[in-house]
Amino acid sequence: MSADFRPAARAAAAVVALLPLVLAVVWLRTPEAQQQPAEFVAPAISDTGSLEGPRQPIFFRHDIHAGQYQMDCRYCHYAVEVSPYPGLPSMETCMGCHRITGAALPEVQKLREAAGTGQAIEWVKVHNLPQFVRFPHMRHVRAEIACQTCHGPVERMPQVYQYASLKMGWCLDCHKQRQVTTDCTACHY
Ligand code: HEC
Ligand code: HEC
Ligand code: HEC
Ligand code: HEC
Ligand code: HEC
Repeated sequence: MSADFRPAARAAAAVVALLPLVLAVVWLRTPEAQQQPAEFVAPAISDTGSLEGPRQPIFFRHDIHAGQYQMDCRYCHYAVEVSPYPGLPSMETCMGCHRITGAALPEVQKLREAAGTGQAIEWVKVHNLPQFVRFPHMRHVRAEIACQTCHGPVERMPQVYQYASLKMGWCLDCHKQRQVTTDCTACHY
């Protein structure tokens, strides 16, 4: 009688013993585990004409700052948590580093020239919701939705482009999912 289930018990014991190995193999095969390069190095780019997104007056690269050097988004976009319009960094924020860093690079020289003449840089807006839409940016950031959920992998973008459609359906899908209001008057003036 007992001889009948002994092989089964042994097989079960073997599976249990091998479980950590099996899990390790499965884990190593998942894309997350494979996608962990030791360090990200932003590529050299010679053909800027083929990049997605509007061309900016200075070739400011998120993949260098937020990617390679891992600067926090909030270092430059410090108003994201308090303002309906997060805004863009001031010249002082840039010059905190670029009085010295990269002084020989042509695009940094443009920045330093503008700083010298006290001229603000006129960044081209990437996102443009129509005037009749109310979008309180800070409420979304405070609800702990990652920047990337709406803006995509900015830390890998040499030039920022619009990632989400920003259509009404896009807003509503998430609001329904998260049980947030879908009243017309919440989003429309
Ligand atoms: C070193 C400063 C700096 C850091 C760090 C930084 N940004 Fe930016 N960001 C800028 C500047 C300058 C612009 C305007 C030029 C441009 O669009 O590239 C900008 C533009 C943007 C825009 C487009 C705004 C528009 O016009 O609609 C988004 C979205 C954005 N940043 C998201 C992020 C996110 C997400 C992170 C973190 C992963 C981040 N930024 C980190 C400086 C920074
Ligand atoms: C915390 C430090 C820091 C801040 C703040 C900072 N940068 Fe940089 N930036 C760097 C570093 C580091 C590099 C890489 C320099 C190199 O490759 O020698 C760089 C590179 C650059 C380059 C050259 C990219 C290339 O290789 O062509 C430009 C242009 C630039 N930054 C613009 C800006 C602007 C505009 C701001 C403000 C919105 C800003 N930076 C804020 C550290 C900073
Ligand atoms: C729920 C979606 C959502 C999240 C999360 C989100 N954003 Fe935005 N963001 C938007 C939309 C939509 C706009 C365009 C708003 C407009 O045109 O009025 C925008 C605009 C911006 C702008 C341009 C602001 C301006 O004044 O032109 C910046 C910079 C920005 N976001 C950065 C960030 C950063 C950094 C984070 C994370 C800390 C973040 N966003 C999180 C949806 C989001
Ligand atoms: C990824 C999810 C997500 C997307 C996309 C999103 N929202 Fe939201 N939204 C939220 C959450 C979560 C809240 C609730 C935050 C809180 O509790 O303060 C919210 C709150 C709001 C509020 C405040 C509602 C109130 O109670 O007064 C408005 C207005 C709003 N969103 C507009 C928009 C618009 C317009 C868009 C599209 C351009 C949009 N949202 C896209 C998740 C999202
Ligand atoms: C969560 C935010 C949100 C809510 C709730 C919402 N809308 Fe919108 N709506 C938007 C956004 C963002 C746009 C602009 C983008 C677009 O046209 O899709 C828009 C655009 C529109 C437009 C213009 C469409 C066009 O083609 O020009 C109309 C009309 C409209 N909404 C009506 C409504 C009505 C009616 C309701 C209530 C039943 C409503 N919306 C609820 C976010 C919202």
